[in-house]
Amino acid sequence: MFDIAGRHALVTGGANGIGAGIASALMEAGCHVTVADLPGSATPELEAAQSAGKASFVPLDVTDEAGIAAVVGALNRLDILVNCAGIIRRAEEFDLATFARVLDVNLTGTMRLCTACRPLLAANGPDGGAAIVNIASMLSFFGGGLVPAYSASKGGIAQLTKSLAIAWAKDGIRVNAVAPGWIATPLTRALQEDPERSKAILSRTPMGRWGKPSDVAGATLFLCSPAASFMTGVVLPVDGGYLVA
Ligand code: NAI
Repeated sequence: MFDIAGRHALVTGGANGIGAGIASALMEAGCHVTVADLPGSATPELEAAQSAGKASFVPLDVTDEAGIAAVVGALNRLDILVNCAGIIRRAEEFDLATFARVLDVNLTGTMRLCTACRPLLAANGPDGGAAIVNIASMLSFFGGGLVPAYSASKGGIAQLTKSLAIAWAKDGIRVNAVAPGWIATPLTRALQEDPERSKAILSRTPMGRWGKPSDVAGATLFLCSPAASFMTGVVLPVDGGYLVA
């Protein structure tokens, strides 16, 4: 039920943080993974995986429609799309140009990839197991007074996930999201290093620790596997209990 060996996956934002954790878990599960991330972002780990024939790195900005068409056009086959590319700009998000940029990367970038990959995913047929996993957030559920663009983009990811799940079920494409709680990655470094904010986060998290990229990878692989074959349109929290506390 959990076997996804031999599948082909595309992971945006897969060079760092949560995306890298998901990409490496997919490789361990026997998938071939195309990691699409900003030019120059390939890490030594990713280069080693590439040399071992488990992964391919392609430079891509998810705001570049022509670049996406070229990357997706070069794939022969695709079973799994994970949209992990994302940015946060905190206080600067009250500036309208920055607001638009965060929406463009986090939300429209996800829609661009979903749209470009749909024909390849649908080519697997109605029972071919094609799956999209988008990365939502706790801020898909809560407002974020310090991050208006980031929260709007993640609220949008939840609604986009539900909408595409309905629209593309007939193509055999399941569309789900994971909503990570507080995960220790470069994106949250400022919070991890702020003793007051970090204490507030940990004291509300029943499991009492920061999450790891591998915690999010487990739920993502589950949603891509036959074990989740009747699940679509779900936004699955992976948060150590933060949401219910
Ligand atoms: P990260 O900063 O470690 O990694 C983000 C990746 O996206 C980087 O590799 C970066 O190069 C790539 N990226 C940024 N802009 C891009 C663009 N325009 N085109 C292509 N790639 C681009 O961040 P992290 O924490 O791994 O976040 C990954 C996803 O998870 C994001 O969507 C983020 O919003 C989400 N998330 C993270 C949480 C956390 O606590 N770290 C919590 C909830 C959601």
